[in-house]
Amino acid sequence: MIAAPRHQMMSLAIQPCVMSRGSAVQAVVSPSQGEMGTAHSSGAGTRVMIIGGDGYCGWATALHLSARGYKVAIVDNLVRRTFDLQLGMDTLTPISSIHDRVKKWAEVSGNHIDLMVGDICDWDFLEQSMESFRPEAVVHFGEQRSAPYSMIDRTRAVYTQHNNVIGTINVLYAIKEICPDCHLVKLGTMGEYGTPNIDIEEGYITIEHNGRTDTLPYPKQGGSFYHLSKVHDSHNIFFASKAWDIACTDLNQGVVYGVRTEETMADPALINRYDYDGIFGTALNRFVVQAAVGHPLTVYGKGGQTRGFLDIRDTVRCVQIAIDNPANKGEMRVFNQFTEQFSVNDLTKIISTEGAKLGLDVNIVSVPNPRVEKEEHYYNAKCTKLRDLGLEPHLLSDGLIDSLLTFALEHKDRVNMDLIKPAVNWKKSGVVDAMTNAAVSK
Ligand SMILES: NC(=O)c1ccc[n+]([C@@H]2O[C@H](COP(=O)([O-])OP(=O)(O)OC[C@H]3O[C@@H](n4cnc5c(N)ncnc54)[C@H](O)[C@@H]3O)[C@@H](O)[C@H]2O)c1
Repeated sequence: MIAAPRHQMMSLAIQPCVMSRGSAVQAVVSPSQGEMGTAHSSGAGTRVMIIGGDGYCGWATALHLSARGYKVAIVDNLVRRTFDLQLGMDTLTPISSIHDRVKKWAEVSGNHIDLMVGDICDWDFLEQSMESFRPEAVVHFGEQRSAPYSMIDRTRAVYTQHNNVIGTINVLYAIKEICPDCHLVKLGTMGEYGTPNIDIEEGYITIEHNGRTDTLPYPKQGGSFYHLSKVHDSHNIFFASKAWDIACTDLNQGVVYGVRTEETMADPALINRYDYDGIFGTALNRFVVQAAVGHPLTVYGKGGQTRGFLDIRDTVRCVQIAIDNPANKGEMRVFNQFTEQFSVNDLTKIISTEGAKLGLDVNIVSVPNPRVEKEEHYYNAKCTKLRDLGLEPHLLSDGLIDSLLTFALEHKDRVNMDLIKPAVNWKKSGVVDAMTNAAVSK
């Protein structure tokens, strides 16, 4: 195990603030040229700012909404791409620059997406972006979203909490001061709840205590400094929605899997990122790549860890549903955004069965758990509100695993085997050697 050297810590500390400001890309193409921009929705015309729109969920969502007639602006400081450069990692898929992405989207769809490159922790940049675009809804994906990244060392823990908590406070102030009627759709995570030994409700729980009853925010038990940053966000949003009469929806999202959406597959230059490494790769995406390259599926400890999961095609749809059915002003509405629950052992069984059908010899290995978490526990989380509003889930059927495996096989030449092992231990500082030989000296 090694610690990040001082010079890298310094660059991390200043890095989020040095991006260029508000460089709008005007990729103008006649609407009649496009074929992807025709699936109109009742929300068509709504002005939606997507913070973190160059990321995994944000890019797919930006295109999904743009294709349906929403007026979309992407705000992103491209820090996710910088993490890859710093840690010697790369996405499985060869993604284009954000500038090429929006230009290509204009050609393919005929729809223009505004692009503002900058950091939402920089108030002047955010203020200028909000004033120029005047959104009716802000979808906030723009956070450091990896639990392992936040646990690498003190610098990354502090960076994660600063970036996420301050960024969200800035967004709340920007809505209050510039667009008070704007609806905030904020991505939280199911990981905020932890794994309590009772059912997990959607945001709030009614408690009777000493003869009195109240409905209160559901208790939160984040399992990393990343998860705790989301808990702090939720508390700040809860307070600000009431204090300033803002409409907010907190989407407690489960683990997202998959990479294909109709729009991101419309052209190679639109392809989405796919993280499979031990820091940013999420469980199912990671296992699929391990199976494709013949690496044993690395189960952390006993593998009884159970979580909520959803297909990226449902992520984009859930966000659209939240925008089309806004929260009331002064309300922080909470939806649990996942469609199915699986334990890690459930996932490995599904992948080894489906892998065998494709001729893959899938082995499973238990490795010491680098995290501090329960490996066997009760888990029953509610997720009915988005379905009540019209979500029709894509479930993890055999067919889907098949297509995920096939996708990973198509790109397997790009896999760096060093990146697919667990890389960060919750109790130690630093990243394991193999992950970082490109970027972090010993
Ligand atoms: N991917 C999942 O499985 C998952 C699960 C639950 C919740 N979420 C939440 O969804 C959101 C998006 O996740 P993702 O997987 O797309 O992450 P991602 O890292 O791929 O995308 C996040 C984007 O936000 C940008 N960003 C980060 N900080 C910023 C800042 N200060 N200013 C401007 N842009 C900034 C990054 O450059 C990146 O493009 C996150 O808030 C995450 O916590 C994701």
